[in-house]
Amino acid sequence: PAKAQQGSAGKRISPDLFGIFFEDINYAADGGLYAELVQNRSFEYNPSDHGGWHPLTSWDYLHEGYAMGSISVESAAPLHANNPHYVQLRVESPFQKGLGLRNAGFDGIPLKAGEKYDFSLFARTKSGAAMPLLVQLRDAKGAVLAETTLSAQGAGWQPYRATLAPTAAAPDASLVVLAIAKGVVDLDMVSLFPQKTFHNHPNGLRADLAQVVADLQPKFVRFPGGCLAHGDGLDNLYDWKKTIGPVEQRVAQRNIWNYHQTAGLGYFEYFQFCEDVEAKPLPVVAAGVSCQNSGGSWKIGGTGQQCVPLADMAAYTQDVLDLIEYANGPATSAWGARRAAAGHPAPFNLQYIGIGNEDKQTPEFRERFRLIYEAVRAKYPNIEVIGTVGPSPKGEDYDQGWAFANQLRVPLVDEHYYEKPQWFLANNQRYDGYDRQKSKVYLGEYASWGNTLFNALAEAAYMTSLERNGDVVRLASYAPLLAKENHTQWNPDLIYFNNSTVVPTANYYVQQLFGQNQGDEYFGGVTALTSNVAPTDSAVVSSCVRDAKTGDVILKLVNPGGKGQVVGVNLARFKGLTTNASLSVLTSARNASNTFATPRMVLPSVSPFKAGKTFAYTVAPYSLAVIRVKGK
Ligand code: AHR
Repeated sequence: PAKAQQGSAGKRISPDLFGIFFEDINYAADGGLYAELVQNRSFEYNPSDHGGWHPLTSWDYLHEGYAMGSISVESAAPLHANNPHYVQLRVESPFQKGLGLRNAGFDGIPLKAGEKYDFSLFARTKSGAAMPLLVQLRDAKGAVLAETTLSAQGAGWQPYRATLAPTAAAPDASLVVLAIAKGVVDLDMVSLFPQKTFHNHPNGLRADLAQVVADLQPKFVRFPGGCLAHGDGLDNLYDWKKTIGPVEQRVAQRNIWNYHQTAGLGYFEYFQFCEDVEAKPLPVVAAGVSCQNSGGSWKIGGTGQQCVPLADMAAYTQDVLDLIEYANGPATSAWGARRAAAGHPAPFNLQYIGIGNEDKQTPEFRERFRLIYEAVRAKYPNIEVIGTVGPSPKGEDYDQGWAFANQLRVPLVDEHYYEKPQWFLANNQRYDGYDRQKSKVYLGEYASWGNTLFNALAEAAYMTSLERNGDVVRLASYAPLLAKENHTQWNPDLIYFNNSTVVPTANYYVQQLFGQNQGDEYFGGVTALTSNVAPTDSAVVSSCVRDAKTGDVILKLVNPGGKGQVVGVNLARFKGLTTNASLSVLTSARNASNTFATPRMVLPSVSPFKAGKTFAYTVAPYSLAVIRVKGK
């Protein structure tokens, strides 16, 4: 298209401004985005991780039709040293049926009619004798919806696969595996995936949930946290190397949010997801220290920060360098070869890496951050490192973090804040006065406390200020992204879900409208409001950007108040524009919110719009309006 370039140039702003923050919190990964339907497939729930856990957590022992025999958890000659436990079924007499296990997944296994499911496991048999295994999907009343029989045979571990096609849908089915002949069989990695995953990857992601995330059109994806990245102790740091390779060789563990993490959604899958949604990957690694709140002290400023011993920092730093090679190195490099072996010889084009998450600015943290930062800078000068400045928009850690980042000339720092909606309205000017010569900002976590439309509009108003300051705020992501019903540890979140339903919040639709309508140039003066700030909840704010790729000019207008406001718009400066526009409006009652009971209370509407060179637009009460005017 002849791009609307002729008008006076705008301010260059970050082309990567709005992205997403994925943290494995609220069962976002296992039981969530990761499509595995079996809980505790590898029998690695560990009592030392969590008092109530054991290797048979979420499994029931089945003794059907008077079968005789026993079951135990074993660890001799396991499938892999990283996956030390497995189950042994010893059938003395199957009698009419057999002996085995049942798994009801994460709150039940949801089955859809007409869909197929990939079952797999590893097995070995005593002395290599054949053991028939009956595999079934049963509904909550025990009716069999699908079944198949496999013959396990061989004294060494072997993978077995089968496809199951249930005859009916069921919201809360279970998977049953029965050994149905006399003999002994060992089982591990008992797994069930829907055949249809996001972009149809094996070991993939839940398609409906991933699609809702993809529809945000994020420019980047941050992962795997949050606090999860630095863990609640040295043995709980998220170690990327333990999350790649064959899934049966990855290291499962309790995560900082106190549930089990299989690492089935690991670094390869994160990078692959970024590629699928055309977003830049933004991994965050621990800065050689764990969360300062380690040891159960959730008091900010707690003393639990545990540090990688300095003698081990060279190895730790090498792990970070290896991560960059894993993402970007040629397939012939040591770690690039691991990526290629996973099926991706081409690089993932990593540009950003975060070091640290909200860490207390102790001397120990700084020393380790500096070691990692300098090593990355020396070996990979084109990688943009993101530092960290604590968990609040102000305070000691914040000030010290900024001073440290500026001293080291860290390209970006990660700010986090969760505040009342009024705070977001009152602080609309926050970045207007930032020193443009210093480190740039990644607003890595932010949210107003709530999921009402008013919360979402306060965030929208703030996002207009992020666009206005898109030269200094290079990246921004709402947090957290996902939360599973009945397993939500942190509120509010952007998307709620259970096994069958996904509920995008009002806040989601704000993120989506900004995500789908990003630009790379900012223009002031398009409305009389553009440079206004919103000190109260009744002032309309706006921003205007142009997208170089399409030449489209995009105007966003936010009215967090209860009275419609007429705004004059002047597009005369843009010479290459049509009058064809689309108008997206997000509006409802001030306190409306989307819930499982009312998932569609707050939804955007889209309609065609005629945009003259100048026009007046009435911004409805409690609304966000996005007018996208097509370039020629
Ligand atoms: O987003 C939830 C948590 O909030 C993140 O894990 C942490 O970084 C912040 O304190």
